[in-house]
Amino acid sequence: MSPTNCPTCGGSGYLVEEHGGALVARPCSCRIPDRATRLVEQASIPLRYRKGYTFDPFKPAHPTQEEALMLSRRFAEDYPVLPEGANGLLFLGPCGVGKTHLAVSILQEVVVRKGLPALFVDLNGLYREIRATYGRTGSEETEYDILNPLVESPLLLIDELGCVATPWAQDTLHYLVSQRYNEQRPTLCTSNYLDSPGPGETALDDRIGTRTRSRLMEMCQTVLMDGPDHRKR
Ligand SMILES: Nc1ncnc2c1ncn2[C@@H]1O[C@H](COP(=O)(O)OP(=O)(O)OP(=O)(O)O)[C@@H](O)[C@H]1O
Ligand SMILES: [Mg+2]
Ligand SMILES: [Zn+2]
Repeated sequence: MSPTNCPTCGGSGYLVEEHGGALVARPCSCRIPDRATRLVEQASIPLRYRKGYTFDPFKPAHPTQEEALMLSRRFAEDYPVLPEGANGLLFLGPCGVGKTHLAVSILQEVVVRKGLPALFVDLNGLYREIRATYGRTGSEETEYDILNPLVESPLLLIDELGCVATPWAQDTLHYLVSQRYNEQRPTLCTSNYLDSPGPGETALDDRIGTRTRSRLMEMCQTVLMDGPDHRKR
């Protein structure tokens, strides 16, 4: 039941009751989210991705996308029972080939269908959020408060690996990846940077650091995606 079609509160989401002569509003039960809704909210998948990024509308436009779809579906089906070793997925490829689409589709299957917790993080946003905590005083959120849920999430999607390549950004990412590596927690990643880039392009390990790439090699199967930019269609 959602507030819009609730007969109890008529759609307002509130019930007004009298207590000791005064009128007080109390939230209607239709506003108390069920577990699945809560998990979706907690997964912090951006709104833009939540609706369209599922397996069904994904139409492979290149053989590598077919393979990527197959591997993604298999991951989502098997999760949380995964093989030992490189059980995560690292989607690599140019803009608009469906890397984030497939990775988010996996997350949605896990969270919505299986009812299991998982988290999305956009690295660009994460770096900004952490920087905003610097120089604050007192009891406010610290870098650790931000990173810890990402370290501990049973499944994490790191979107836009390599988007920032400063030593600080590499250190921060290394902490996150190495902590998850140590605990053998499955991780999904996407990046525009390749291991063997074309002339004039930067390699993934130059962007994220060799130590992080090396750990991800053990944690994730690399899924190369190619094809036309879907955003230009
Ligand atoms: N095979 C596909 N079938 C249908 N829609 C697709 C497919 N691939 C991509 N799209 C759509 O194209 C748009 C871009 O896809 P997506 O966000 O996954 O790109 P990306 O590979 O992550 O690119 P970037 O590197 O720029 O982040 C989205 O709207 C997505 O739904
Ligand atoms: Mg993307
Ligand atoms: Zn109601």
